[in-house]
Amino acid sequence: MGNLCGSSAKCANASSPLASKTSLPSNTTSNSTSSSKTTHKSSVSSLPSFKSEASPAVSVKSFSLIELKSATKNFGSNSYLGEGGFGCVYKGWIDENTLAPTRPGAGIVVAIKKLKRESFQGHKEWLAEVTYLGQLRHENLVKLVGYCSEADNKLLVYEYMQRGSLENHLFRRGVQPVSWAMRVNIATDVARGLSFLHRLDTQVIFRDLKSSNVLLDSDFRAKLSDFGLARNGPTGDKSHVSTRVVGTRGYAAPEYIATGHLSVKSDIYSFGVVLLELLSGRRALDEDRGSTEETLVDWAKPYLNERRKIFRIMDTRLEGQYSKREAQAIASLALQCLHSDPKNRPSMSEVLQVLEDLKQSKDTTLLPPRAHSRE
Ligand SMILES: Nc1ncnc2c1ncn2[C@@H]1O[C@H](COP(=O)(O)OP(=O)(O)OP(=O)(O)O)[C@@H](O)[C@H]1O
Ligand SMILES: [Mg+2]
Repeated sequence: MGNLCGSSAKCANASSPLASKTSLPSNTTSNSTSSSKTTHKSSVSSLPSFKSEASPAVSVKSFSLIELKSATKNFGSNSYLGEGGFGCVYKGWIDENTLAPTRPGAGIVVAIKKLKRESFQGHKEWLAEVTYLGQLRHENLVKLVGYCSEADNKLLVYEYMQRGSLENHLFRRGVQPVSWAMRVNIATDVARGLSFLHRLDTQVIFRDLKSSNVLLDSDFRAKLSDFGLARNGPTGDKSHVSTRVVGTRGYAAPEYIATGHLSVKSDIYSFGVVLLELLSGRRALDEDRGSTEETLVDWAKPYLNERRKIFRIMDTRLEGQYSKREAQAIASLALQCLHSDPKNRPSMSEVLQVLEDLKQSKDTTLLPPRAHSRE
């Protein structure tokens, strides 16, 4: 669950980078997609498509409220998965091919987020943004399967992520600690997802990166979630969101909070905070720790620069089971990402390169001697 700025979770003051590109078309018939699924073709077809290594022209389904009620057993408590700043999330079942609701146990599972009434902006903008971002497909982004927009009811249907959020795995009591190798993989997956968004022709700024928005599948592969919602956060009214800064305290870049100026470097800062959470097992913001240790960045920064001090911030639940070399490299990367001047932060491609190199060198050292000698 997100924590709000001041006493509330979402903070601040920025324009949607997509605002100018998401006007809904008046033509509802042209350029329909070849998908056999029921889609909101009118919106999808006229929105700009993303050129990328991923499939460029996918679309999302427009669900009716009745369909989603049926998929979730009327949003019953047995289907409840959790709650965030935007509303409650439910587990639902739909047919893999037709996407029609099915009975539990048949078809595929989806996660359905039911937005609180006050959590969405103007209907057209909301719908356009959802369909626009619904075109994005990447293995490190949670897939947006569809949406429902009926009168005041706004829902989002996502691919279901079996292991839930990274936040739960890092901080919830009673959960088995995430191993070091897994943490490095998760960091790399997140970097891959962000790097994909930043490299698109129409660059997308994620804007609300935090461990609760990193979801894990059954194999602990990490994917970014909420990338469709975060850029236009809840406004509490239906006015245009251009004066709204969306982010979460503890993760949002200082210049973004101060000025509302949004750039890809804001995402890099938040990524640095997530790296610190992975290293330390501490929350970005923990009011129970007292003023000197409340903010993870402030507490950890002095230790990041000195190789010999790194162990002082490492998660004790790792019980020392981590590579010192990798921990130092990641601490140093985090420090660069957290630079107070956004210009001095690395790009996401550079970050990804560092993490992949790290993995590569580890993979090599893990190769058995015979494999080396054959090369
Ligand atoms: N696609 C999904 N698959 C499985 N569980 C999900 C999915 N999306 C969300 N959840 C679960 O639902 C809960 C609420 O998620 P939600 O995104 O609404 O809140 P949040 O990320 O904690 O905060 P915020 O509203 O700021 O994003 C989380 O605990 C998460 O584990
Ligand atoms: Mg979320």
